[in-house]
Amino acid sequence: MHGVAAMAKREHIPVMLNEAMAGLAVRAGGRYLDGTFGRGGHAEVLLARLGQQGRLLLMDRDPQAIVVAHQRFAADPRVVIRHGNFADLGEWDAAAEGLDGVLLDLGISSPQLDEGGRGFSFQTDAPLDMRMDPSCGESAADFLARASEKEIAEVLWRYGEERMSRRIARVIVGSREQGRPFTGTRELADAVAQVVRYRIPGRHPATRTFQALRIQVNGELESIQRGLLAACQCLKPGSRLVVISFHSLEDRIVKQFMRGPQAPRVSRGLPAPEVPESPLRVMGKQRLDLIAVVLLLPAMMSSAIAVVWARNENRELFIQLTRLQNHRDQLNIEFGRLELEQATWADPAHIEAIARSQLGMISPDPAQVRVVRQ
Ligand SMILES: C[S@@+](CC[C@H](N)C(=O)[O-])C[C@H]1O[C@@H](n2cnc3c(N)ncnc32)[C@H](O)[C@@H]1O
Repeated sequence: MHGVAAMAKREHIPVMLNEAMAGLAVRAGGRYLDGTFGRGGHAEVLLARLGQQGRLLLMDRDPQAIVVAHQRFAADPRVVIRHGNFADLGEWDAAAEGLDGVLLDLGISSPQLDEGGRGFSFQTDAPLDMRMDPSCGESAADFLARASEKEIAEVLWRYGEERMSRRIARVIVGSREQGRPFTGTRELADAVAQVVRYRIPGRHPATRTFQALRIQVNGELESIQRGLLAACQCLKPGSRLVVISFHSLEDRIVKQFMRGPQAPRVSRGLPAPEVPESPLRVMGKQRLDLIAVVLLLPAMMSSAIAVVWARNENRELFIQLTRLQNHRDQLNIEFGRLELEQATWADPAHIEAIARSQLGMISPDPAQVRVVRQ
C-alpha cells in the first residue's frame, strides 16, 4: 500500500477515549474542536455523537494528518478542516465564532513514530527531521548544525531531563567540528548510546535525547501554553476543555494553567499580593494506567488527562496576573535595595561618616588617645 491509503491505514489508537468523551460531555448541537486530529480516532467518536446541527472543527499541524482528515471526513457537511498549529486557533474564524468543547491530545501520533522517514524514531534510520510540519521551521539536523554546545546541552537537559546532556552535546559539536555533523537518526542514536552509561530496562538510551530534540524543533511547550490560552478565548461560557498530556513537562504546563495564577513568592516581610480566582474549574483528573502507556508509546512515561470547565474571563485574568507579577518584581527589587542599604548602615565607615556629618563628631587627636590593654 502506498501514499494516502497507507497513511490512513496507519492507525493511532486513541488513548483515554471514553474519559475524553465523558469530559467533553458532547451536546448533539454543539461546536467542537479536535485540535490534534492525528488519524481521527477521537474525531470519529466525537462526530458520531453530534446531530445534524453540530459542528466538528479538525486541526493538526502535520500535513499528512490533514490529508487523512480530508479523506475520511471532508464529505461530512458538519466537518471543517484546517492545517495549522492549535496555538494559532484564534486566527481561525470557525473557532473564533465560539466553541462548546476543545480536545487536545498532546504529543505525536503512532504513525508519526512509525513512518521512518519523519525522523522521530531511532528504530529506523532516517534523516534527522522531527518536524510535525515539515513545511516550516528548522529540522533537528539543522538545529544540531547551528546551535552552540551550551544551547544543545540546555535543550537536552530542559526538555529531556537527560543527565548526560553536557557530554552528549560535546560529542555532537565535536563531530560537527570534525566535518561530520549528525544528519541521520541511527548515527545520533548510536553516538548517544555510547555516551549514556546508565540503562533503563526497555528503554533506548537515546529516548530522552530524541524527546528533547522533538520538543525543541516543534516548539511544543510554547505551543501548548499559547494553545491553552487560545482555546479558552474561543470557548463559550460553560464549555469544556479536555487535554491529554503524556510527559511531565506537558503535564506541568496544563496543571499550572488549570490551577490558574498562584500567589507569587515575595520576600519575607512584604505583603502578599491578592491573586484573582482561576476561571477554570477542574472537573476530574486521572492518571493513565502506566502499563497502557508502556504498550502504546514506550518512550512516554506517564500520562494524565485533565478536564476543565472554562469561562471566558481568561484573558482579563492573565492581564491581571501579568500586572501582579510586575508589581511583585518591583517590590522584590525595592526589597533588595533596602537590604543593601541596611547592610551599608552596619559598615563602620558609614557609621563614622554619619557621626561626622550629622552629629558633628570629629576624630580625636592622636595625642589624646590612650590605648588601654586588658
Ligand atoms: C497523540 S496524536 C493525536 C491522536 C488523535 N487524538 C487520534 O485519535 O488519532 C497528536 C497529534 O497532534 C498533532 N499536534 C501536536 N502538536 C500540535 C499543535 N501544536 N497543533 C496542531 N497539531 C498538533 C500531531 O501532529 C499529532 O498528529
